[in-house]
Amino acid sequence: MGKTSGQHSNGSIHGLDPSRIPAHVACVMDGNGRWASARGLPRTEGHAAGEVALLDTVEGALELGIGWLTMFAFSTENWRRPRDEVRYLMGFNESLLVRRRDELHDKGVRIRFAGRRDWRVPRRVLNRMDESAELTAGNRRMTLTMAFNYGGRAEIVDAVRRVVTDGLRPEQVDEKALRSRLYYPDQPDPDIVIRTSGEFRISNFLLWELAYSELVFSEVLWPDFRRGDLFAAVGEYQRRDRRYGGLES
Ligand code: IPE
Ligand code: IPE
Ligand code: MG
Repeated sequence: MGKTSGQHSNGSIHGLDPSRIPAHVACVMDGNGRWASARGLPRTEGHAAGEVALLDTVEGALELGIGWLTMFAFSTENWRRPRDEVRYLMGFNESLLVRRRDELHDKGVRIRFAGRRDWRVPRRVLNRMDESAELTAGNRRMTLTMAFNYGGRAEIVDAVRRVVTDGLRPEQVDEKALRSRLYYPDQPDPDIVIRTSGEFRISNFLLWELAYSELVFSEVLWPDFRRGDLFAAVGEYQRRDRRYGGLES
């Protein structure tokens, strides 16, 4: 019948309503350490195993036509981890970019980074980030934002600093003024925030942006997460009624 895989004759894709695909999905990739511990492996093996999950999620998001995907890779609080784990995570994220940026580029993915470029992030990691962003800057099929050395509070503080350096008067400070000074004011707020590993918290992710996001919590540990879990989260989102403070639609 000439259908592409996952597409059904009623027009749905993977059983989802194609007219209500979220524009922006954000994800807290959590549970790598527990995944590894459960297998008697060092925590770092859990981070390594998370790469497949990340790539499969990107693939699934492309299949659905999701235009914006934001993934929490390293928080401003993750510096509290043991030095060896932090060092591993820096090197891992650097090598992941080197290994994966060409295939992401070929798929039409624009890669960019949200977070603080402070002295703690090694220069060579920043270089790989800049190269990946530059390589893929012209792509528009999807924007994949890696939240790296990212904190929601830090982002708001950075926006406030810009408000001050821009010399705004108090009466000029409104939501629009702050929003336009966030890291990426061009992106729509996330429709869905997914957190894996059975934890029910936000852990300083996208505090401003998730004001009206639908939160979806999954028991799956991040290294086991696959596109099917993304489709399930989108299905849950499609069953929700977003009211934005108004009355149900
Ligand atoms: C998420 O997995 C990855 C990062 C925070 C970098 P964790 O490393 O937090 O894994 P758990 O939560 O300890 O299982
Ligand atoms: C959030 O996970 C940060 C990332 C996934 C990068 P954490 O594992 O750091 O969060 P907590 O410590 O459980 O709140
Ligand atoms: Mg964790």
